Amino acid sequence: MSTTADKKVFIKTYGCQMNVYDSERMNDVLVPLGYGETEHPEDADLIILNTCHIREKAAEKVYSDIGRLKKLKDARHSTGQDSLIAVAGCVAQAEGQEIIRRAPTVDMVFGPQTYHRLPNMLEKIKAGGKSIVETEFPAEDKFDGLTSTSGHKRLSHGVAAFVTVQEGCDKFCAFCVVPFTRGAEFSRPVSQIEEEVHQLVEAGVREFTLLGQNVNAYHGTDSDGTLLSLGALLDRLSRIDGVDRLRFTTSHPRDMNDELIDTMAHNDVVMPYLHLPVQAGSDSVLKAMNRQHTAQEYIDLIAKIRKAIPHLALSGDFIVGFPGETEQDFEDTMTLVREVTYAQAYSFKYSVRPGTKAGDLENQVPEEIKSVRLTKLQELLMEQQLAFNEQSLEQEFNLLLERQGRHEGQLIGRSPYLQAVHIEAKGHKIGDIVRVHVDKVGPRSLSAHIIEDTAQLN
Ligand code: 5AD
Ligand code: SF4
Repeated sequence: MSTTADKKVFIKTYGCQMNVYDSERMNDVLVPLGYGETEHPEDADLIILNTCHIREKAAEKVYSDIGRLKKLKDARHSTGQDSLIAVAGCVAQAEGQEIIRRAPTVDMVFGPQTYHRLPNMLEKIKAGGKSIVETEFPAEDKFDGLTSTSGHKRLSHGVAAFVTVQEGCDKFCAFCVVPFTRGAEFSRPVSQIEEEVHQLVEAGVREFTLLGQNVNAYHGTDSDGTLLSLGALLDRLSRIDGVDRLRFTTSHPRDMNDELIDTMAHNDVVMPYLHLPVQAGSDSVLKAMNRQHTAQEYIDLIAKIRKAIPHLALSGDFIVGFPGETEQDFEDTMTLVREVTYAQAYSFKYSVRPGTKAGDLENQVPEEIKSVRLTKLQELLMEQQLAFNEQSLEQEFNLLLERQGRHEGQLIGRSPYLQAVHIEAKGHKIGDIVRVHVDKVGPRSLSAHIIEDTAQLN
């Protein structure tokens, strides 16, 4: 087994944070095979597009990227160098063989549940030269193939890292492809997650974001056979030395149990930030979306959570123009947003996803109407984001310094509420946690100055 990087891999990640995690794990799997990461596809022996299928545009983009990469591949081939193109992720899962049919230059197609087999796939390609499609949901668990017992280690990726703890979804919202691309809901065992967190602590990570499509439905098995909820898992991980901050995303209102609310309220390591999508504010749309809750139930839930965690930063997802959405339905969404108030949110125009229940609905909303509604909603959400940030003015909090700013000496960190905060470093470095005073706020970021040298803070 080679350990020096004699080959190069270029990985492009589309879409969600779980894809970011998956790309990092693919990289981890490739390091022992002698691959080092490059940011230049023209230098790469292996190019992986880790794709997203959640909305229409994301999938289209993959095909145009493949077109561009084909030119690079042909150019390399003419100078005697070969490169392989792999399409991974959710478009791969959804389209499978169709990708090779449309783009024969692609050598490998593999879904989110099979990338632990990458070494084996590369072997096969070398031996046979034919393209490979692996998009089944294998009986063996991908995560079992990614632990230290199978020779894999989580490598360092900065001071804040993602850890997938739950994957897949059984909710079947009518608009969503996730239950088809990521499969049934699955929780990783507790000991596996602990092992990964320990490895990341060793690699210098201080903040961990636990990922899952339905992360608060987590119910992983502990070593004594009992099941741990997400609240209990967060409590457990917070006791690991070196784990300074914990976050989790994405949660579903139906799975927001009291244990999790209690952990968020009482465990200082768990940050006061909650991403809890509602998607729409009209009961008839929520019903058509199969969200399994009403607008009022969501509003009541948020009131209960805020009672326990008054300084909570709430985030959400919204879809406008779901089939059949009337002007009144849309106004109901605006009313809900005004009542709930968000610190930050993501909003999208509905896009048809083949294979989903809503994909076949006839009463589609015209694009122009979707655009008008999205603009209105985003204006309101942006106003609320600015109002939330304004509350931080003259406040003090702890900041984890995560990355370099635009100019010399400037560092950017995240507040407990996930706001991006700019500071002048004065000898501090990425990975330090510092106490700051906020001097200036804008809609997308804050500026602050350090008031204490507090590398040990959390
Ligand atoms: N159209 C538009 N937005 C969608 N989302 C999921 N599926 C669709 C779709 N078909 C949004 C939802 C989800 C987020 C990840 O993407 O808001 O919460
Ligand atoms: Fe998709 Fe709904 Fe599952 Fe979220 S809860 S992943 S939106 S089906």
